[in-house]
Amino acid sequence: MAIKLSLPSLLQNFLLVTTFVLLIENTDACLDRVDRTNIFPFETYDDHRKHDLDGAGDEEWGMVKRKGNQFVVGNQPFYVNGFNTYWLMILAVDQSTRGKVSEVLQQASSVGLTVCRTWAFNDGGWRALQKSPSVYDEEVFKALDFVVSEAKKYKIRLVLSLTNNWEGYGGKAQYVKWGKEAGLNLTSDDDFFSDPTVKGYYQAHIKTILTRVNTYTNITYKDDPTIFAWELMNEPRCLSDPSGNKLQAWIQEMAFYVKSIDPVHLLEIGTEGFYGLSTPDRQQVNPNTYAGQVGTDFIRNHQALGIDFASVHIYPDSWLSSATTESSLEFARTWMENHVDDSENLLGMPVVFGEFGVSTKNGKHNVTFRDAFIGMVYKTLLNSTRRGGSGGGSLLWQLFPEGTEYMDDGYAVVLTKSPTTASIISLQSRRLQIFNSRCDWKCHWSCRKRSIAMNDLVSHDEM
Ligand SMILES: *[C@@H]1O[C@H](CO)[C@@H](O)[C@H](O)[C@H]1NC(C)=O
Ligand SMILES: *[C@@H]1O[C@H](CO)[C@@H](O)[C@H](O)[C@H]1NC(C)=O
Ligand SMILES: *[C@@H]1O[C@H](CO)[C@@H](O)[C@H](O)[C@H]1NC(C)=O
Ligand SMILES: *[C@@H]1O[C@H](CO)[C@@H](O)[C@H](O)[C@H]1NC(C)=O
Repeated sequence: MAIKLSLPSLLQNFLLVTTFVLLIENTDACLDRVDRTNIFPFETYDDHRKHDLDGAGDEEWGMVKRKGNQFVVGNQPFYVNGFNTYWLMILAVDQSTRGKVSEVLQQASSVGLTVCRTWAFNDGGWRALQKSPSVYDEEVFKALDFVVSEAKKYKIRLVLSLTNNWEGYGGKAQYVKWGKEAGLNLTSDDDFFSDPTVKGYYQAHIKTILTRVNTYTNITYKDDPTIFAWELMNEPRCLSDPSGNKLQAWIQEMAFYVKSIDPVHLLEIGTEGFYGLSTPDRQQVNPNTYAGQVGTDFIRNHQALGIDFASVHIYPDSWLSSATTESSLEFARTWMENHVDDSENLLGMPVVFGEFGVSTKNGKHNVTFRDAFIGMVYKTLLNSTRRGGSGGGSLLWQLFPEGTEYMDDGYAVVLTKSPTTASIISLQSRRLQIFNSRCDWKCHWSCRKRSIAMNDLVSHDEM
């Protein structure tokens, strides 16, 4: 990914911006109408989706692609309102908890969420997918197959993360442990990023996942449009090398490797988005000084060839220990605007805020604050969407169905118990759906008709 935009993509961006400018007036009228409603919006979504679930919308289940700084499916924009539920595969292993997977997907779909980020790894340990290097538990793999096929049923696409920086579900520490058990002289978990044998283990995992033939659908993962993107790692950090070189080399090598197997799907890194040494002037945007020293570098990392969109997380409650409610919201807005602008101007790619959330269990924040925070994230994204900017979407951390609270890290949102949060999410889904139902610059005419029809649809629903 070069920094400079080529002429065709500049032209494309210009046309895109023009298209959005032309549509803004109309859209804002629409949004105002949405704003004034206080109908609880679950019905609306279910009604529209029933037709799709019958299979009528099957031909639209295309691969998500990137065009300049936007996501598209076919000729239409694809702005993302999505969520995280990391444990889907694990609960799908056991018949007694498998229903929870369907339940959370169904509930997500009922508030219009269209993308779920989840783990496609469990390295060693309880219900391991990969029991030891290249040794897989077929029952767990079938559970992942189930998750993928069930997601399609609810018209939800998946971001599949391939391993963890942290120890949950194995991650780099487990890979290094395997290396040691094989007799390698490894001294740090960060050797995951540099040791040739351990890198080989991880590459073998990438290949196994991408070439897996789903036992429910017979579709190879690398050909399945249900998968929105691959993610190299959940929140990579490499403290042993603050220069960022070690992690950068790993990203470059692994991005190339993923693309050599699957050139079609989108790929992202999984970073938290901290600015690093390549942009000293940006370091003041980081939540604290430490964030600039964890071996990651937002701009440089995303310039690696093969990376299709930027990944950023937003955690004012854990990153800013003494922030007030007001300053937390202000941080979220500034953090997002900087990343949207940089993704647009320096990277020429969309950015997805792949995790954002608030713990309501640590005594600091309550549901009122959580709603305000989610509202701020959505509003800031819409500001980008309205002008055709790089803000591609956001994924809430995290959605749980009832009865899984024992997995809760404090951040769980149970929609059926959180009507105010559910309304905010649903409203954002409908707003983005208005943008997504407009055609892009290539087919103004049929698109115009469609968007007029869409406006009718929305206004009827709202009345
Ligand atoms: C293991 O590697 C470390 C650091 O690279 C080195 O100092 C040490 O001597 C090595 N130990 C063995 C047994 O090779
Ligand atoms: C998958 O393929 C196998 C063997 O070709 C076939 O028996 C089975 O019916 C297929 N399943 C689906 C869901 O298409
Ligand atoms: C929208 O975003 C731009 C830049 O990203 C910023 O300058 C502007 O203040 C934002 N507007 C609102 C209403 O948030
Ligand atoms: C949350 O906390 C704020 C300020 O501390 C308070 O005004 C608000 O009523 C609380 N909301 C709930 C639902 O407890």
